[in-house]
Amino acid sequence: MTLFVAERVDKLFPGVRALDGVTLALEAGSVHALLGENGAGKSTLIKVITGLYRPDGGKLLLDGSEVAFGSPHESAAAGIGVVHQERNLIPGFTVGENILLQKLPTSRGLVDRAAIRSEASRWLAELDLDIDPDQPVTELSVAQAQLVEIAKALSVESRVLLLDEPTASITPNEADRLFRVVDKLKNDGRAVLFVSHKLEEVFQICDTVTVLRDGSSVLESGALADLTRDQVVDLMVGRVHEALSLPPRTVDRSVDPLLELSGVSTATGHADIDLAVRPGEIVGLYGLVGAGRSELAKALLGLDRITAGEVRIRGRAVRIKNVRDALRNHKIGYVTENRKEEGVFLEQSVSRNIAVTIWDRLSKLLGYVPAKAESALVARYVEQLGIRIASPAQLAGTLSGGNQQKVSLAKWLAAQTEILIIDEPTVGIDVRTKDAFHTLIWDLAANGLAILLITSDLPEMITLADRVVVMRDHRVQGEVANDHDYDRMSQQVIRLIHAERAVA
Ligand SMILES: Nc1ncnc2c1ncn2[C@@H]1O[C@H](COP(=O)(O)OP(=O)(O)OP(=O)(O)O)[C@@H](O)[C@H]1O
Ligand SMILES: [Mg+2]
Repeated sequence: MTLFVAERVDKLFPGVRALDGVTLALEAGSVHALLGENGAGKSTLIKVITGLYRPDGGKLLLDGSEVAFGSPHESAAAGIGVVHQERNLIPGFTVGENILLQKLPTSRGLVDRAAIRSEASRWLAELDLDIDPDQPVTELSVAQAQLVEIAKALSVESRVLLLDEPTASITPNEADRLFRVVDKLKNDGRAVLFVSHKLEEVFQICDTVTVLRDGSSVLESGALADLTRDQVVDLMVGRVHEALSLPPRTVDRSVDPLLELSGVSTATGHADIDLAVRPGEIVGLYGLVGAGRSELAKALLGLDRITAGEVRIRGRAVRIKNVRDALRNHKIGYVTENRKEEGVFLEQSVSRNIAVTIWDRLSKLLGYVPAKAESALVARYVEQLGIRIASPAQLAGTLSGGNQQKVSLAKWLAAQTEILIIDEPTVGIDVRTKDAFHTLIWDLAANGLAILLITSDLPEMITLADRVVVMRDHRVQGEVANDHDYDRMSQQVIRLIHAERAVA
């Protein structure tokens, strides 16, 4: 039974046709994949369906009757739930309040705290989450916030659920819990629309697929079982996509590390961390959500307190004050995982975002920033990373999620750092651009940069890292030298995560 249909939907923005006659049908008891490269129009379609954007053409049908939602509130009331690509939790509220925002339980006219707690706990338990409903959402990690957002969408118990990259910043373990819930919804006769750049997931949970390319649907509601992974990728890319091959790169182990941690403990709970990254080396940090990888990067950059041990840069013990100090005085770049809040200035142009890290240097050197130098620099990165923009003056906030991520990496590349700390560089990045990112990171290492790579994407880790350091509970569990044999590596890494820690 067809629950929802989008028929020949158009959406125009200044300079781009984000949707051009897109059609798809969501069936009861089905999980429908919506695929396409960064900027193809996936999120725009979801926003049109939920009434956040008004379509410029076409129609939407719910249970066979035409609908036009004036706001997300109206679509929610009609039984359409959504997890948007951007996080939307309200900062001043607790986890429980956020989850139940649409229908806060009251008793005698007052918000009922106990009911919030127990009702929210039920949805958190559904996802096996160990998060306190009374905790303020500002204390959550990126991954936890994403999971809470999913719990919130589930709590509405809608018949149609739209998930825009819900697994982007969570690890396979957490994603599996979501998939168990999606399975339940499917068996319950709901319709789910699922957006993801992780094709393994798509083949694991979806049965139907629509592929968008440049705003048009190149495959409309096809059966996924009839397609191979390569065929799906070719449809998205619009030509035959070739597998990435990276040239050999060796690390000189006799050279002193550029970045070294010894016996580091932090206020966020790390104990006795030893780590070294040499010039030309990519060291990976792997672990489950909550292992403390991003927090370690933050402590290193002075954003959290180091309580014991030593950080050495080029052999000298240092205390980095903040990201600016790291860049200016130590040539350390930091690509944060939290691009929306920390990585990109949404209200600024793409150009300004890319040039921001060299702004200081240029203006100190010349007293001003020549527009020509800026636009040449920007053009280079736009081309190299395939950033999809209408013009360099476009505001970063209006780029698709993946394209914002590209801008946030570009500015650090422009800064010409010697040490780069990269946290989840390809979250939400499409297959083709992911390869371009991997090549770039690989080339930076080949040119002598020391790179500390945090990623939850195991294939990415095994493609790039020379060594994988595995963390659990804010400690280093051990290390695996990468031989690029995926099966053997992933087994070793997973085994380390679950191994009992040797008692010293
Ligand atoms: N508010 C807006 N103003 C101007 N242009 C926009 C706006 N929202 C989206 N666009 C443009 O519409 C196009 C489609 O963007 P959309 O966010 O739908 O892509 P997407 O398929 O979700 O990509 P991603 O995989 O990166 O999330 C892009 O070119 C984007 O820059
Ligand atoms: Mg999107």
